[in-house]
Amino acid sequence: MDFDSKSNKYLKKVELWLREYLDGIDDAEGALSEAVIYSLTAGGKRLRPLLFLSVAEILGLEDICSKPYACAIEMIHTYSLIHDDLPAMDDDDMRRGKPSNHIVFGEGMAILAGDALLNLSFEIMNEDARASSDSGLLRRKIDAAGFIANASGLHGMISGQAIDLKYRNLKISENLLKKMHSKKTGALIRASVMVPAILAGADGQTIASLEKYASGIGLGFQIKDDILDAEGNAEILGKPTGNDILQNKSTFVSLYGKDESKKMLESVINESIGAISDFKEKAEFLIHLANFIQFRDK
Ligand code: IPE
Ligand code: IPE
Ligand code: MG
Ligand code: MG
Ligand code: MG
Repeated sequence: MDFDSKSNKYLKKVELWLREYLDGIDDAEGALSEAVIYSLTAGGKRLRPLLFLSVAEILGLEDICSKPYACAIEMIHTYSLIHDDLPAMDDDDMRRGKPSNHIVFGEGMAILAGDALLNLSFEIMNEDARASSDSGLLRRKIDAAGFIANASGLHGMISGQAIDLKYRNLKISENLLKKMHSKKTGALIRASVMVPAILAGADGQTIASLEKYASGIGLGFQIKDDILDAEGNAEILGKPTGNDILQNKSTFVSLYGKDESKKMLESVINESIGAISDFKEKAEFLIHLANFIQFRDK
C-alpha cells in the first residue's frame, strides 16, 4: 500500500472540511475568530482525523458521516494545546512551528479561543445530528457525541491534565502515571478510533479489537511525546523540548528513564498491532500509523 498517498488523501479532506467550518464562523468583531483560525490552521500532524478516517474506510462509513466528528475531535485537540501552552500550565512559547496562541493574541484571548473551539466542536456535532432523518443513525450520532464529551472532560483529557498539573514536583506512582497518560492523551486518540466504529454500528468483536488497538497507541503516543521532549529536535517538533525536566514533571522518562521508556513504548505498540490482526490486509494503514507513533520524530 502507498501510505503517503493514502495519508495525503485523508489530509486533503480534513484540511478542506476544517476550512469549511472556519468559513462559517462569524463573530462580529473578528477578534476571536482570528485566534481560533490561527491555531486550527497552524499545521499539526492531524493524527486523530487520520485514525478516524482510516477506521471509517475499513468499516465503510461515509465521509458525510465522518466529517463533523473527525473535525470536532481535531478542534478539541487544538483547544487542549492552546490551553496546555498557557503560562498557568506548561508555559510554552512555540506550537506547531509558530508562536503559541497566547504569545500572539495574549492570554485572555487564548483562553477564549480554546473555549470557542470546544464549543464549536459540539455545535457542529449537534447541527449534524439534528439533520438526521434516520432514527438509528441519529441514536449513533448522539452516542458518538457523548463518547467525545466523555473523552474530553472530567473523565478524560481534562482530568489527565489535572493530574499532570498536580504531580509536578511530586513523585507519581506507576499506576497513576499510566492513568494520567491514558486520560490526557489516550482518551482523545481512543475517541478517534472508537467514534467511527460507533457511527458505523460495528459489531462487538470489532469494537473490542479497536478498543485494544486504541488504548495501546493512545498510551504509546504520550510515552513517545515524553521521549521526544527529552531527546527530540525542537525545530522538527515545532515546539520546545526539555521543559518536562525543567518543570519537574512526572513523565515516563522521569520515572523509568529513556531506554526503559522506549522498551515500554515498543511493547504497547506491538500489543496494539496484535489486537487488529483479525482485520488482515484491512489493518495495514492502522499498523502503519502505530509504527509512525513509535518511530516519529515530530
Ligand atoms: C501533542 O499532540 C500533544 C499531545 C497530546 C501529546 P500532537 O503531537 O498530536 O500535536 P499536533 O496536533 O501534531 O500539533
Ligand atoms: C499534553 O501533554 C496533553 C494535552 C492534553 C494537550 P504535553 O504537555 O506533554 O504536550 P506537549 O508536549 O506540550 O505537546
Ligand atoms: Mg502539558
Ligand atoms: Mg505541554
Ligand atoms: Mg510533552
